[in-house]
Amino acid sequence: MTFLLLENLVKEFVGRGGEGIVRAVDQANIVIEEGEFVTLLGPSGCGKTTTLRLIAGFEFPTEGRIVLDGEEINQQPPNQRDMAMVFQSYAIFPHLNVFENIAYGLKIQRLGKKVIQEKVRQVLELTELTGLENRPPNALSGGQQQRVALARALVMEPKVLLMDEPLSNLDAKLREIMRTEIRRIQQTLGITSIYVTHDQIEAMTLSDRIVVMNEGRIEQIGPPPEIYRRPKPPLWPTLSAAPIL
Ligand SMILES: Nc1ncnc2c1ncn2[C@@H]1O[C@H](COP(=O)(O)OP(=O)(O)OP(=O)(O)O)[C@@H](O)[C@H]1O
Ligand SMILES: [Mg+2]
Repeated sequence: MTFLLLENLVKEFVGRGGEGIVRAVDQANIVIEEGEFVTLLGPSGCGKTTTLRLIAGFEFPTEGRIVLDGEEINQQPPNQRDMAMVFQSYAIFPHLNVFENIAYGLKIQRLGKKVIQEKVRQVLELTELTGLENRPPNALSGGQQQRVALARALVMEPKVLLMDEPLSNLDAKLREIMRTEIRRIQQTLGITSIYVTHDQIEAMTLSDRIVVMNEGRIEQIGPPPEIYRRPKPPLWPTLSAAPIL
């Protein structure tokens, strides 16, 4: 069943240097099922982040519709959309410890102390951060910080988890470990996830389906083996370096 629908989605910006209108997203159509892991893949500037920000509600579409669970959410502010986003820069609070960082959103919702403790405990376990509750972020490794960012999103039990290049600040080895971790957590929870990357191998290993974008347009949508075996030109050349699935 369709869970999240992007219909003829268009986003135009006034060019940064005053150079007219930039069509960052151009007539995008994507149908996402509940529990799916979908990756937006494409080169820098192709409109991946803008698409994700439209879904999250940090931007509003110039044209088209976004429908979540049967309800059009075009005009809803981010905090009403029941989604959570993980950023490349982690965006965790430096002055709060791990527990406080993860509990932050729940406190704003004014949940009871016991409920908060239990929810945080569960998500610490899921992200394998148990024992690090009292650490400040500057005493964590990059991978641990990214786990905190993920835990902070997951603890809100969002309908949709959005991730914008969450691993690009990590070294290659850690990136590989975290890739497996993200997939394991996503499968454990069955949470509908949209992931943005320009890394083809990351997209191939994580996703149920890949959406290939180029210059704001969707070039191709399909499961990884299909994208790998029958890439629609113009897919950029490094794809041949990807492992055979
Ligand atoms: N607020 C804005 N104002 C003007 N132009 C913008 C704005 N945000 C994005 N753009 C333009 O829209 C296009 C798509 O940008 P976007 O950030 O979505 O790309 P991306 O695929 O996420 O790229 P990257 O891989 O580099 O993060 C680019 O040409 C960008 O310059
Ligand atoms: Mg981006």
